[in-house]
Amino acid sequence: MIPNISDETATPSTSIKVIEISAFDGWLNDQTDMVKNWISVQAFKPVKGAHIVVPNPEGGISFVLLVLKDLNWNVWSLASLPASLPEGIYKLEAELDEKQASDVSIGWSLATYKFDRYKENNKVFATLVLPVNADQAHVERSVYATNLARDLINIPTSDMGPKALEGAASQIAGEFEARQMNVVGEDLLTYHFPMVHAVGRASEQKPRLIDMVWGDASAPKVTIVGKGVCFDTGGLDLKPSSAMLLMKKDMGGAAMALGLAYMIMHAGLPVRLRVLIPAVENAVSGNAYRPGDVLTSRSGKTVEIGNTDAEGRLVLADALTAADEEEPDLLIDFATLTGAARVAVGTEISATFTDDDELFALIERHAKAENDPVWRLPLWDNYRELIDSKVAEINNSGSTGFAGAITAGLFLKEFVEKSKSWVHFDIMAYNNRARAGRPVGGEAFAIRTMFAALSERYGK
Ligand code: BES
Ligand code: ZN
Ligand code: ZN
Repeated sequence: MIPNISDETATPSTSIKVIEISAFDGWLNDQTDMVKNWISVQAFKPVKGAHIVVPNPEGGISFVLLVLKDLNWNVWSLASLPASLPEGIYKLEAELDEKQASDVSIGWSLATYKFDRYKENNKVFATLVLPVNADQAHVERSVYATNLARDLINIPTSDMGPKALEGAASQIAGEFEARQMNVVGEDLLTYHFPMVHAVGRASEQKPRLIDMVWGDASAPKVTIVGKGVCFDTGGLDLKPSSAMLLMKKDMGGAAMALGLAYMIMHAGLPVRLRVLIPAVENAVSGNAYRPGDVLTSRSGKTVEIGNTDAEGRLVLADALTAADEEEPDLLIDFATLTGAARVAVGTEISATFTDDDELFALIERHAKAENDPVWRLPLWDNYRELIDSKVAEINNSGSTGFAGAITAGLFLKEFVEKSKSWVHFDIMAYNNRARAGRPVGGEAFAIRTMFAALSERYGK
């Protein structure tokens, strides 16, 4: 079941005709007087994304006309329609290849997302007949994974703390018979995740390291790490209210990790997948970690705490070390890591860091094809000294705020040594404004891109 997508090709449906702006005048010329008249009395202007519902003589709908800037079909081409068309079943009149047909279906379905866990929402959306050529399984997993990530982010911390996040991971692991181990509370010290423990120990809910493994042990190892800070108060370096307001989304990296893992397992990609999620709440309490503390990380490296609000890199460091120990072919991490990345590329582009040019070229090509944009920022080694510490081997916050996303990336890089390739995504995990198919609220970033890149790299 794909929300608002019907695979009943035989059911009566209303046609959606799509033309590009430049073809409008010619198209209008060929229409009946009735259609010409309707378009005229409605004062319809063929601007990009505009649509008009054209009636038939019986008072029903004859067809829908959608005007696009061009016919370069992408995931959002039809995404404005489900919310604005009258309820009913529609069929697209266009010849699309498999990728195009799948993409427009994904965008249509994603546009019908509702977060109605706490309040009834009676909004109804139009349904699209799955276009011929669409890869139904791919549409299903793309929509499911994205909406899963959206839900996990939108659910407030009161119902999505570290324990609930572990439960969400277990549900997915169960569906695909993945093995899951959770290292919880004091056990984090026994099993050597000291920084996950230090950051999370002030919370009512125990910190934990979620560790999921799936697939053929002899297949190439792909490991995904996701920042699972279920709420980020900033710790003793408390955030001001405006900056704290949205910090339920600070587990967005974990949501992406689970979404991408879902797609990989659903597709049965021939990889040995591992997902590592440090799930904590960065809280304030008498036993909270402090500015000036020195932590010894899982890797042995000592870390001076310059700022308790730079907690993400601490919990990620221990998880990255654990990932790195088994020398994966590819190590991917997703994190709502810095405000600086948002200043650099805004909220709608995934800031991407890797030293592997070939890997980035692969990712960038798929990001364009998926309409899931990334932009590369440098792991500029000359900035490493900005996170030097006088008392420890490294500091968790820079001596200056400049290049904050880069110094955060360089911090993480210290904990990745043996992995063949590593890529780090610093993401927003949230739509600050509504766009076609993307309502305000939690959002998946770079997971459709990475699924496509992984499919090409490891394909069956
Ligand atoms: N979770 C925040 C980063 C964040 C803020 C992401 C807003 C997206 C939107 C992170 O833990 C944080 O607070 N980072 C600090 C680091 C600084 C103290 C070195 C930042 O970016 O200001
Ligand atoms: Zn923080
Ligand atoms: Zn954070």
